[in-house]
Amino acid sequence: MKYFINTYGCQMNVHESEKLAGILEDLGYSLADSDQVADVVVFNTCAIRESAEQKIFGNIGMLKQAKKQNPNMIIAVCGCMSQQKGYAELIVKKYPYVDIIFGTHNIARFKDFLNKRNKQKRVIEIVETEDISCRDNMKVARTSGVNAWVNITYGCNNFCTYCIVPYVRGREVSRPAADIIGEVEELLKQGYKQITLLGQNVNSYGNDILDDNVNFANLLQSLDNLPYKYRLRFMTSHPKDLSLKVLEVMAGSKNICHYLHLPVQSGSDFILKAMNRKYTVDKYLNLIETARKMMPDIQFSSDLIVGFPGETEDDFNKTLELVKKVRYQQLFTFIYSKRKGTVAETMDNQVDIKIKKQRLSKLIELEKGIATEISQSYIGKTVEVLVEGKHPKKQGYLMGSCDFGKTISFKGDDKLLGSFAYCLIEKANHTTLFGSITKIIQSSETEYNLPTNKIRRK
Ligand code: 5AD
Ligand code: SF4
Repeated sequence: MKYFINTYGCQMNVHESEKLAGILEDLGYSLADSDQVADVVVFNTCAIRESAEQKIFGNIGMLKQAKKQNPNMIIAVCGCMSQQKGYAELIVKKYPYVDIIFGTHNIARFKDFLNKRNKQKRVIEIVETEDISCRDNMKVARTSGVNAWVNITYGCNNFCTYCIVPYVRGREVSRPAADIIGEVEELLKQGYKQITLLGQNVNSYGNDILDDNVNFANLLQSLDNLPYKYRLRFMTSHPKDLSLKVLEVMAGSKNICHYLHLPVQSGSDFILKAMNRKYTVDKYLNLIETARKMMPDIQFSSDLIVGFPGETEDDFNKTLELVKKVRYQQLFTFIYSKRKGTVAETMDNQVDIKIKKQRLSKLIELEKGIATEISQSYIGKTVEVLVEGKHPKKQGYLMGSCDFGKTISFKGDDKLLGSFAYCLIEKANHTTLFGSITKIIQSSETEYNLPTNKIRRK
Protein backbone atom coordinates (compact mmCIF):
# COMPACT_ATOMS: atom_id res chain seq x y z
CA MET A 1 0.00 0.00 0.00
CA LYS A 2 1.34 3.40 -1.01
CA TYR A 3 0.80 6.97 0.21
CA PHE A 4 1.54 10.45 -1.07
CA ILE A 5 1.32 13.80 0.73
CA ASN A 6 0.90 17.13 -1.05
CA THR A 7 2.02 19.89 1.31
CA TYR A 8 1.27 23.59 0.86
CA GLY A 9 2.38 26.66 2.79
CA CYS A 10 4.83 27.13 5.61
CA GLN A 11 7.44 25.04 7.42
CA MET A 12 4.92 24.25 10.14
CA ASN A 13 2.88 22.36 7.53
CA VAL A 14 5.95 20.57 6.15
CA HIS A 15 6.73 19.36 9.66
CA GLU A 16 3.14 18.30 10.30
CA SER A 17 3.24 16.32 7.05
CA GLU A 18 6.28 14.52 8.46
CA LYS A 19 4.06 13.53 11.40
CA LEU A 20 1.26 12.33 9.09
CA ALA A 21 3.88 10.34 7.14
CA GLY A 22 4.95 8.83 10.49
CA ILE A 23 1.39 7.56 11.08
CA LEU A 24 1.11 6.14 7.55
CA GLU A 25 4.50 4.41 7.68
CA ASP A 26 3.57 2.87 11.05
CA LEU A 27 0.48 1.45 9.36
CA GLY A 28 2.71 -0.17 6.74
CA TYR A 29 2.31 2.31 3.88
CA SER A 30 5.32 3.27 1.76
CA LEU A 31 5.88 6.32 -0.40
CA ALA A 32 4.31 6.33 -3.90
CA ASP A 33 5.95 7.93 -6.93
CA SER A 34 3.03 10.34 -7.35
CA ASP A 35 -0.40 11.05 -5.94
CA GLN A 36 -2.00 9.59 -9.08
CA VAL A 37 -0.90 6.05 -8.13
CA ALA A 38 -1.20 6.21 -4.33
CA ASP A 39 -3.72 4.35 -2.15
CA VAL A 40 -3.86 7.21 0.35
CA VAL A 41 -3.39 10.80 -0.80
CA VAL A 42 -3.22 13.64 1.73
CA PHE A 43 -3.59 17.33 0.91
CA ASN A 44 -2.08 19.28 3.83
CA THR A 45 -3.40 22.71 2.97
CA CYS A 46 -2.67 26.41 3.49
CA ALA A 47 -5.07 29.33 3.76
CA ILE A 48 -2.74 32.29 4.06
CA ARG A 49 -3.55 33.75 0.63
CA GLU A 50 -6.26 33.15 -1.94
CA SER A 51 -3.70 31.95 -4.49
CA ALA A 52 -2.82 28.99 -2.22
CA GLU A 53 -6.46 27.93 -2.09
CA GLN A 54 -6.90 28.11 -5.84
CA LYS A 55 -3.84 25.94 -6.39
CA ILE A 56 -5.07 23.34 -3.86
CA PHE A 57 -8.56 23.16 -5.37
CA GLY A 58 -6.98 22.68 -8.81
CA ASN A 59 -4.75 19.87 -7.50
CA ILE A 60 -7.63 18.04 -5.77
CA GLY A 61 -9.53 18.32 -9.06
CA MET A 62 -6.68 16.60 -10.88
CA LEU A 63 -7.29 13.40 -8.87
CA LYS A 64 -10.84 12.90 -10.15
CA GLN A 65 -9.85 10.47 -12.94
CA ALA A 66 -7.41 8.52 -10.74
CA LYS A 67 -10.13 8.02 -8.13
CA LYS A 68 -12.52 6.81 -10.83
CA GLN A 69 -9.99 4.22 -11.94
CA ASN A 70 -9.15 3.21 -8.36
CA PRO A 71 -12.30 3.71 -6.24
CA ASN A 72 -10.41 2.36 -3.21
CA MET A 73 -8.12 5.39 -3.24
CA ILE A 74 -8.57 7.40 -0.03
CA ILE A 75 -8.30 11.19 -0.41
CA ALA A 76 -7.82 13.20 2.79
CA VAL A 77 -7.78 16.99 3.06
CA CYS A 78 -6.43 18.61 6.24
CA GLY A 79 -4.64 21.73 7.48
CA CYS A 80 -5.49 25.42 7.53
CA MET A 81 -7.88 25.51 4.56
CA SER A 82 -10.06 22.70 5.96
CA GLN A 83 -10.12 24.37 9.36
CA GLN A 84 -11.78 27.55 7.99
CA LYS A 85 -15.46 27.97 8.75
CA GLY A 86 -17.64 26.37 6.09
CA TYR A 87 -14.75 24.92 4.08
CA ALA A 88 -15.37 21.25 4.88
CA GLU A 89 -18.84 21.62 3.32
CA LEU A 90 -17.40 23.56 0.39
CA ILE A 91 -14.75 20.90 -0.30
CA VAL A 92 -17.35 18.10 -0.23
CA LYS A 93 -19.67 20.04 -2.53
CA LYS A 94 -16.92 20.74 -5.08
CA TYR A 95 -15.19 17.36 -4.79
CA PRO A 96 -17.65 14.68 -3.59
CA TYR A 97 -14.93 12.04 -3.99
CA VAL A 98 -12.92 13.40 -1.00
CA ASP A 99 -13.09 10.78 1.79
CA ILE A 100 -11.66 12.40 4.92
CA ILE A 101 -11.53 16.03 6.04
CA PHE A 102 -9.87 17.10 9.29
CA GLY A 103 -8.33 20.31 10.59
CA THR A 104 -5.20 21.68 12.25
CA HIS A 105 -5.97 20.54 15.81
CA ASN A 106 -6.52 16.83 15.33
CA ILE A 107 -3.76 15.53 13.04
CA ALA A 108 -2.73 13.03 15.75
CA ARG A 109 -6.07 11.25 15.15
CA PHE A 110 -5.42 10.55 11.46
CA LYS A 111 -5.18 6.79 12.12
CA ASP A 112 -8.66 6.82 13.75
CA PHE A 113 -10.05 8.71 10.76
CA LEU A 114 -8.64 6.11 8.37
CA ASN A 115 -10.23 3.32 10.44
CA LYS A 116 -13.56 5.14 10.59
CA ARG A 117 -13.49 5.62 6.83
CA ASN A 118 -13.45 1.83 6.43
CA LYS A 119 -16.88 1.73 8.04
CA GLN A 120 -18.52 4.85 6.60
CA LYS A 121 -18.56 6.74 3.30
CA ARG A 122 -16.98 9.93 4.53
CA VAL A 123 -15.31 11.25 7.69
CA ILE A 124 -15.45 14.96 8.53
CA GLU A 125 -13.86 15.97 11.84
CA ILE A 126 -13.15 19.64 12.47
CA VAL A 127 -12.63 20.65 16.12
CA GLU A 128 -11.77 24.03 17.62
CA THR A 129 -9.08 22.84 20.07
CA GLU A 130 -7.53 19.60 21.19
CA ASP A 131 -5.04 18.72 23.90
CA ILE A 132 -1.61 19.39 22.34
CA SER A 133 -0.03 16.56 24.28
CA CYS A 134 -1.41 14.09 21.73
CA ARG A 135 -0.06 16.14 18.80
CA ASP A 136 3.28 16.46 20.54
CA ASN A 137 5.74 13.67 20.77
CA MET A 138 4.23 11.95 17.72
CA LYS A 139 6.45 9.75 15.62
CA VAL A 140 7.96 11.89 12.87
CA ALA A 141 9.00 10.43 9.49
CA ARG A 142 11.67 13.08 8.86
CA THR A 143 12.56 13.82 5.30
CA SER A 144 15.19 16.39 5.57
CA GLY A 145 18.73 14.97 5.67
CA VAL A 146 20.78 16.92 8.19
CA ASN A 147 17.86 19.23 9.08
CA ALA A 148 15.16 18.67 11.68
CA TRP A 149 12.23 20.82 12.69
CA VAL A 150 10.90 20.98 16.23
CA ASN A 151 7.64 22.63 17.34
CA ILE A 152 7.85 24.90 20.36
CA THR A 153 4.48 26.70 20.19
CA TYR A 154 1.21 26.15 18.36
CA GLY A 155 -1.25 28.87 17.36
CA CYS A 156 -1.11 32.64 17.58
CA ASN A 157 -2.60 35.35 19.82
CA ASN A 158 -1.68 38.38 17.75
CA PHE A 159 -4.55 38.90 15.34
CA CYS A 160 -2.68 40.97 12.77
CA THR A 161 -5.65 42.35 10.85
CA TYR A 162 -4.75 40.72 7.51
CA CYS A 163 -4.00 37.25 8.88
CA ILE A 164 -6.12 34.09 8.98
CA VAL A 165 -3.68 32.10 11.15
CA PRO A 166 -5.20 32.87 14.60
CA TYR A 167 -8.58 31.72 13.26
CA VAL A 168 -7.35 28.43 11.84
CA ARG A 169 -4.63 27.50 14.34
CA GLY A 170 -6.23 28.77 17.53
CA ARG A 171 -4.69 30.41 20.60
CA GLU A 172 -1.02 30.09 21.39
CA VAL A 173 0.03 27.04 23.38
CA SER A 174 3.65 26.39 24.42
CA ARG A 175 5.15 22.93 24.59
CA PRO A 176 6.80 21.96 27.89
CA ALA A 177 10.51 22.93 27.81
CA ALA A 178 11.60 19.47 28.95
CA ASP A 179 9.86 17.87 25.93
CA ILE A 180 11.52 20.28 23.51
CA ILE A 181 14.98 19.86 25.04
CA GLY A 182 14.52 16.07 25.11
CA GLU A 183 13.50 15.99 21.44
CA VAL A 184 16.44 18.18 20.35
CA GLU A 185 18.91 16.09 22.35
CA GLU A 186 17.60 12.89 20.77
CA LEU A 187 17.88 14.42 17.28
CA LEU A 188 21.47 15.50 17.93
CA LYS A 189 22.27 12.00 19.16
CA GLN A 190 20.88 10.64 15.90
CA GLY A 191 23.24 12.91 13.94
CA TYR A 192 21.02 15.83 12.89
CA LYS A 193 23.13 18.97 12.53
CA GLN A 194 20.67 21.79 12.10
CA ILE A 195 17.61 22.21 14.29
CA THR A 196 14.94 24.79 13.51
CA LEU A 197 12.49 25.66 16.28
CA LEU A 198 9.02 26.39 14.94
CA GLY A 199 6.25 28.66 16.21
CA GLN A 200 4.05 31.42 14.78
CA ASN A 201 5.73 33.77 17.26
CA VAL A 202 8.65 32.01 18.95
CA ASN A 203 9.44 35.04 21.10
CA SER A 204 6.28 34.65 23.15
CA TYR A 205 7.23 31.07 24.01
CA GLY A 206 6.26 30.37 27.64
CA ASN A 207 3.84 33.31 28.05
CA ASP A 208 1.07 30.80 28.72
CA ILE A 209 3.12 28.90 31.32
CA LEU A 210 3.02 30.27 34.88
CA ASP A 211 6.70 29.64 35.67
CA ASP A 212 8.70 32.86 34.94
CA ASN A 213 11.79 30.82 34.12
CA VAL A 214 10.05 29.37 31.07
CA ASN A 215 10.70 31.86 28.30
CA PHE A 216 12.32 31.86 24.88
CA ALA A 217 15.70 33.22 26.02
CA ASN A 218 16.05 30.49 28.66
CA LEU A 219 14.93 27.81 26.21
CA LEU A 220 17.59 28.94 23.71
CA GLN A 221 20.22 28.98 26.46
CA SER A 222 19.37 25.43 27.55
CA LEU A 223 19.52 24.20 23.97
CA ASP A 224 22.79 25.98 23.32
CA ASN A 225 24.28 24.25 26.36
CA LEU A 226 23.74 20.76 24.90
CA PRO A 227 27.16 19.17 24.36
CA TYR A 228 27.10 18.97 20.54
CA LYS A 229 28.35 21.08 17.66
CA TYR A 230 25.24 21.97 15.69
CA ARG A 231 23.22 24.87 14.35
CA LEU A 232 20.16 26.17 16.10
CA ARG A 233 17.70 28.32 14.16
CA PHE A 234 14.17 29.50 14.88
CA MET A 235 11.20 31.08 13.18
CA THR A 236 9.14 33.20 13.24
CA SER A 237 10.10 36.16 15.44
CA HIS A 238 7.65 38.99 16.05
CA PRO A 239 9.43 42.36 16.43
CA LYS A 240 7.14 43.40 19.28
CA ASP A 241 8.25 40.43 21.40
CA LEU A 242 11.93 39.97 20.49
CA SER A 243 13.70 40.69 23.79
CA LEU A 244 17.16 42.05 24.52
CA LYS A 245 17.74 38.89 26.53
CA VAL A 246 17.21 36.74 23.42
CA LEU A 247 19.73 38.85 21.50
CA GLU A 248 22.21 38.48 24.40
CA VAL A 249 21.81 34.71 24.41
CA MET A 250 22.30 34.63 20.62
CA ALA A 251 25.40 36.84 20.80
CA GLY A 252 27.01 34.71 23.52
CA SER A 253 26.08 31.31 22.08
CA LYS A 254 28.12 28.55 20.45
CA ASN A 255 25.38 27.09 18.28
CA ILE A 256 22.68 29.70 17.65
CA CYS A 257 22.93 31.15 14.15
CA HIS A 258 23.50 34.85 13.70
CA TYR A 259 20.48 35.18 11.48
CA LEU A 260 17.05 36.60 12.20
CA HIS A 261 13.90 36.30 10.16
CA LEU A 262 12.12 39.40 11.48
CA PRO A 263 8.95 40.14 9.48
CA VAL A 264 8.28 43.87 9.31
CA GLN A 265 5.28 43.73 6.90
CA SER A 266 5.38 47.48 6.09
CA GLY A 267 7.62 50.52 6.45
CA SER A 268 4.77 52.93 7.22
CA ASP A 269 3.64 53.58 10.80
CA PHE A 270 0.12 54.28 9.55
CA ILE A 271 -0.11 50.88 7.86
CA LEU A 272 1.60 49.06 10.77
CA LYS A 273 -1.08 50.46 13.07
CA ALA A 274 -3.85 49.37 10.71
CA MET A 275 -2.23 45.94 10.59
CA ASN A 276 -2.23 45.78 14.43
CA ARG A 277 1.49 45.01 14.47
CA LYS A 278 2.13 46.93 17.75
CA TYR A 279 5.54 48.44 16.83
CA THR A 280 6.68 51.51 14.93
CA VAL A 281 9.30 51.76 12.19
CA ASP A 282 11.64 53.52 14.64
CA LYS A 283 11.27 50.77 17.19
CA TYR A 284 11.93 48.13 14.54
CA LEU A 285 15.03 49.94 13.25
CA ASN A 286 16.34 50.27 16.82
CA LEU A 287 15.98 46.53 17.26
CA ILE A 288 17.95 45.90 14.07
CA GLU A 289 20.65 48.34 15.18
CA THR A 290 20.91 46.76 18.64
CA ALA A 291 21.19 43.27 17.14
CA ARG A 292 23.90 44.47 14.73
CA LYS A 293 25.87 46.08 17.54
CA MET A 294 25.76 42.85 19.53
CA MET A 295 26.43 40.60 16.49
CA PRO A 296 28.26 42.48 13.73
CA ASP A 297 28.04 39.42 11.45
CA ILE A 298 24.25 39.01 11.73
CA GLN A 299 22.01 38.96 8.63
CA PHE A 300 18.27 39.58 8.42
CA SER A 301 15.36 38.47 6.31
CA SER A 302 11.77 39.66 6.42
CA ASP A 303 8.19 39.30 5.17
CA LEU A 304 6.58 42.31 3.48
CA ILE A 305 3.04 42.83 2.28
CA VAL A 306 2.23 45.35 -0.46
CA GLY A 307 -1.21 46.76 -1.12
CA PHE A 308 -2.69 46.48 2.36
CA PRO A 309 -6.01 48.43 2.39
CA GLY A 310 -5.35 52.17 2.43
CA GLU A 311 -1.66 51.86 1.45
CA THR A 312 -0.81 55.04 -0.48
CA GLU A 313 2.18 55.66 -2.74
CA ASP A 314 3.71 57.54 0.18
CA ASP A 315 3.27 54.55 2.52
CA PHE A 316 4.81 52.27 -0.09
CA ASN A 317 7.79 54.60 -0.54
CA LYS A 318 8.34 54.36 3.22
CA THR A 319 8.55 50.59 2.81
CA LEU A 320 11.21 51.04 0.10
CA GLU A 321 13.11 53.42 2.43
CA LEU A 322 13.02 50.88 5.26
CA VAL A 323 14.32 48.12 2.99
CA LYS A 324 17.20 50.39 1.93
CA LYS A 325 18.01 51.12 5.57
CA VAL A 326 17.92 47.56 6.89
CA ARG A 327 19.48 45.88 3.83
CA TYR A 328 17.91 42.44 4.14
CA GLN A 329 19.76 39.40 2.90
CA GLN A 330 16.44 37.98 1.73
CA LEU A 331 12.85 39.19 1.48
CA PHE A 332 9.60 37.27 1.19
CA THR A 333 7.22 39.66 -0.53
CA PHE A 334 3.47 39.22 -0.83
CA ILE A 335 0.55 40.97 -2.45
CA TYR A 336 -2.14 41.58 0.18
CA SER A 337 -4.89 38.99 -0.15
CA LYS A 338 -8.31 39.49 1.45
CA ARG A 339 -9.09 36.71 3.97
CA LYS A 340 -12.61 35.91 5.11
CA GLY A 341 -13.32 36.72 8.75
CA THR A 342 -10.24 38.93 9.29
CA VAL A 343 -10.56 42.58 10.35
CA ALA A 344 -8.95 43.88 7.14
CA GLU A 345 -11.51 42.07 4.98
CA THR A 346 -14.04 44.84 5.47
CA MET A 347 -11.60 47.77 5.43
CA ASP A 348 -12.23 50.56 2.90
CA ASN A 349 -9.71 51.57 0.25
CA GLN A 350 -8.72 48.14 -1.00
CA VAL A 351 -5.82 48.73 -3.39
CA ASP A 352 -6.18 48.03 -7.11
CA ILE A 353 -4.49 44.79 -8.22
CA LYS A 354 -2.52 46.60 -10.97
CA ILE A 355 -0.98 48.94 -8.39
CA LYS A 356 -0.27 46.02 -6.05
CA LYS A 357 1.62 44.22 -8.83
CA GLN A 358 3.62 47.33 -9.73
CA ARG A 359 4.62 47.82 -6.09
CA LEU A 360 5.59 44.19 -5.74
CA SER A 361 7.92 44.27 -8.74
CA LYS A 362 9.52 47.54 -7.56
CA LEU A 363 10.18 45.97 -4.18
CA ILE A 364 11.58 42.76 -5.67
CA GLU A 365 13.88 44.72 -7.96
CA LEU A 366 15.20 46.83 -5.06
CA GLU A 367 15.79 43.75 -2.94
CA LYS A 368 17.57 41.89 -5.73
CA GLY A 369 20.18 44.66 -5.96
CA ILE A 370 20.71 44.73 -2.19
CA ALA A 371 20.90 40.94 -1.88
CA THR A 372 23.46 40.80 -4.70
CA GLU A 373 25.63 43.42 -2.98
CA ILE A 374 25.43 41.58 0.34
CA SER A 375 26.35 38.25 -1.32
CA GLN A 376 29.25 39.81 -3.20
CA SER A 377 30.64 41.34 -0.02
CA TYR A 378 31.63 37.77 0.99
CA ILE A 379 33.83 37.20 -2.06
CA GLY A 380 37.39 36.51 -0.91
CA LYS A 381 36.22 35.68 2.61
CA THR A 382 36.18 32.28 4.30
CA VAL A 383 32.91 31.21 5.91
CA GLU A 384 31.82 28.17 7.89
CA VAL A 385 29.46 25.93 5.96
CA LEU A 386 27.24 23.03 6.98
CA VAL A 387 27.11 20.52 4.11
CA GLU A 388 23.42 19.79 3.59
CA GLY A 389 22.99 17.92 0.33
CA LYS A 390 23.86 17.26 -3.27
CA HIS A 391 23.45 20.01 -5.85
CA PRO A 392 20.12 19.32 -7.58
CA LYS A 393 21.58 19.91 -11.07
CA LYS A 394 25.40 19.96 -11.02
CA GLN A 395 27.08 16.54 -10.76
CA GLY A 396 29.91 16.46 -8.20
CA TYR A 397 28.69 19.61 -6.45
CA LEU A 398 27.19 19.97 -3.00
CA MET A 399 24.96 22.55 -1.34
CA GLY A 400 25.22 23.93 2.15
CA SER A 401 24.32 26.89 4.27
CA CYS A 402 26.17 29.57 6.18
CA ASP A 403 25.51 30.39 9.79
CA PHE A 404 23.97 33.68 8.58
CA GLY A 405 21.50 31.77 6.39
CA LYS A 406 22.91 32.09 2.86
CA THR A 407 23.02 29.07 0.52
CA ILE A 408 26.46 27.97 -0.73
CA SER A 409 27.38 25.74 -3.66
CA PHE A 410 30.79 24.03 -3.90
CA LYS A 411 32.56 20.96 -5.29
CA GLY A 412 32.76 17.96 -2.96
CA ASP A 413 32.27 14.31 -2.25
CA ASP A 414 28.93 12.96 -0.95
CA LYS A 415 30.84 11.68 2.10
CA LEU A 416 30.96 15.30 3.32
CA LEU A 417 27.21 15.39 4.06
CA GLY A 418 26.64 16.56 7.62
CA SER A 419 30.17 17.95 7.95
CA PHE A 420 31.14 21.43 8.99
CA ALA A 421 33.83 22.96 6.79
CA TYR A 422 35.49 26.23 5.86
CA CYS A 423 34.68 27.51 2.40
CA LEU A 424 36.43 30.28 0.48
CA ILE A 425 33.88 32.35 -1.44
CA GLU A 426 34.80 33.01 -5.07
CA LYS A 427 31.58 34.14 -6.74
CA ALA A 428 28.12 35.23 -5.67
CA ASN A 429 24.69 36.20 -6.93
CA HIS A 430 21.62 37.43 -5.08
CA THR A 431 20.59 33.99 -3.84
CA THR A 432 23.78 31.91 -3.70
CA LEU A 433 27.48 32.01 -2.83
CA PHE A 434 29.92 29.84 -4.82
CA GLY A 435 33.18 28.68 -3.28
CA SER A 436 35.70 25.94 -2.52
CA ILE A 437 36.17 23.92 0.64
CA THR A 438 39.50 24.78 2.28
CA LYS A 439 39.30 22.73 5.48
CA ILE A 440 37.00 20.24 7.21
CA ILE A 441 36.17 21.41 10.73
CA GLN A 442 34.17 18.38 11.82
CA SER A 443 33.09 15.42 9.72
CA SER A 444 29.97 13.37 10.33
CA GLU A 445 29.69 9.60 10.81
CA THR A 446 25.95 9.56 10.13
CA GLU A 447 24.39 8.14 6.95
CA TYR A 448 21.67 10.58 5.95
CA ASN A 449 18.39 9.95 4.17
CA LEU A 450 18.49 12.78 1.71
CA PRO A 451 15.32 14.79 1.20
CA THR A 452 12.87 12.84 -0.93
CA ASN A 453 9.59 13.86 -2.43
CA LYS A 454 7.88 12.31 0.60
CA ILE A 455 6.61 15.68 1.67
CA ARG A 456 6.39 17.39 -1.66
CA ARG A 457 5.81 21.08 -1.02
CA LYS A 458 3.80 22.83 -3.68
N1 5AD B 1 -2.10 38.57 2.36
C1 5AD B 1 -0.80 38.58 2.00
N2 5AD B 1 0.20 38.13 2.77
C2 5AD B 1 -0.13 37.62 3.97
N3 5AD B 1 0.64 37.10 4.94
C3 5AD B 1 -0.17 36.73 5.95
N4 5AD B 1 -1.45 36.99 5.65
C4 5AD B 1 -1.45 37.56 4.42
C5 5AD B 1 -2.46 38.07 3.56
N5 5AD B 1 -3.75 38.06 3.92
C6 5AD B 1 2.10 37.04 4.88
C7 5AD B 1 2.76 37.81 6.02
C8 5AD B 1 3.27 36.73 6.91
C9 5AD B 1 3.61 35.64 5.90
C10 5AD B 1 3.75 34.28 6.46
O1 5AD B 1 2.52 35.70 5.00
O2 5AD B 1 3.82 38.58 5.48
O3 5AD B 1 4.41 37.12 7.66
FE1 SF4 C 1 -0.46 35.96 11.46
FE2 SF4 C 1 0.42 38.08 12.86
FE3 SF4 C 1 0.13 35.68 14.07
FE4 SF4 C 1 2.09 36.02 12.27
S1 SF4 C 1 1.88 37.11 14.25
S2 SF4 C 1 0.69 34.27 12.39
S3 SF4 C 1 1.14 37.42 10.81
S4 SF4 C 1 -1.51 36.96 13.21
